[in-house]
Amino acid sequence: MTIDRRQFIGNAGLALLGTQMAACGGVDRLPVTTVPQSGFDEDSTAEEVTEGVDLSGKLAVVTGCTSGIGYETMRVLAKRGAYVVGTSRSLKRAEDACRSVAGVTTPVQLDLSDFDSVAECADAIRSLNTPVDMLVCNAGYRGGGNDRQLINGVEKHFVINHLGHFILINRLMERLYLAWQARIVIVASRTAYRDAPEDGILFDDLAMSRDYSDSLAYGHSKLANVLCSLQLGEILRGTRITCNSLHPGVIKTELDRNLSAFSRFAWGAYVKLAGKSVEQGAATSCYVATSDKLGTTSGRYFEDCDAVTITGGGHMQNQAMAERLLNTSIELTADWLVEFKKPNWDEFENGIRGDRTN
Ligand SMILES: NC(=O)c1ccc[n+]([C@@H]2O[C@H](COP(=O)([O-])OP(=O)(O)OC[C@H]3O[C@@H](n4cnc5c(N)ncnc54)[C@H](OP(=O)(O)O)[C@@H]3O)[C@@H](O)[C@H]2O)c1
Repeated sequence: MTIDRRQFIGNAGLALLGTQMAACGGVDRLPVTTVPQSGFDEDSTAEEVTEGVDLSGKLAVVTGCTSGIGYETMRVLAKRGAYVVGTSRSLKRAEDACRSVAGVTTPVQLDLSDFDSVAECADAIRSLNTPVDMLVCNAGYRGGGNDRQLINGVEKHFVINHLGHFILINRLMERLYLAWQARIVIVASRTAYRDAPEDGILFDDLAMSRDYSDSLAYGHSKLANVLCSLQLGEILRGTRITCNSLHPGVIKTELDRNLSAFSRFAWGAYVKLAGKSVEQGAATSCYVATSDKLGTTSGRYFEDCDAVTITGGGHMQNQAMAERLLNTSIELTADWLVEFKKPNWDEFENGIRGDRTN
């Protein structure tokens, strides 16, 4: 049988689309009525959702600033006046990205698969001696086909997408406490309910040795992102720090670089059919990081700039699983975590410690 290029694109795109739609069966997205509606939608861009927002005097950290959604998030937050720390595994790439956007930015090296690197990144940010107003945990990894990779005995997606960011949040927590109103924004994905294992987080098999594919592992790590945000929302209740997670949309970025040639091709076709631009893809991150409407909103999951509840499947609101995830994450990363305590406000003026020490 011969198959022409057009048919191939169509079939590949339809196959992927079919999986996405099948995986979605029975799942509903309901608006959260207690969170103010944004007034934006899937077509809104990051610039549009931050129109009129003045971020001068605020520090934002954006992980994975060198391409895709992270680059656009850094560009727009800097355009609105924030001082942005942008990270990459390569300091050179972070420098190039920072140099290419208007505004005040600082490049810092960060490899989320290497916990020493995460600690060094946090130290570099702490050495700026300023409160952290926005921490956008954006960097992400997807791919590898069926070649399961482990880091310290734990599956690679889970380590990079969840545990690395978990340590970074912990080590910047004291700086977040110093901000007038700090926001942790975790860029998750709707694969958290579409592609994650049916049982949710695989606490007894974090190496994913029983059943593995890169999409299952990616969904697993993204469910960890959502549950981590849910639990941090709970723990941080009553503080001035909020934590929310989000799905940015389906966007053609560099995220497919580690997929097989076929999957990359199919993904490209799917994005053409149903995707957003990068400018639209960064909108929910920028909105959740900056909107006045969300000052006290925490532990929520957002799509297209609005908080939604996912019903009919998955573990998106599973508080017991979220609590267990946090405890497990603490055990797995204990050697890199720091104890932090709420600052003694008498030592600070306008958020800055009087003697300007760490
Ligand atoms: N694109 C989509 O359709 C989509 C859909 C749902 C969710 N997301 C999520 O959106 C976020 C951004 O993805 P994107 O689509 O913009 O992908 P991208 O273009 O591949 O950007 C990913 C960023 O993460 C950084 N990164 C990759 N591996 C890293 C590691 N081990 N340590 C530290 N940084 C690392 C990369 O920087 P360097 O290579 O320079 O280190 C890059 O800047 C990810 O969390 C992704 O899961 C994307």
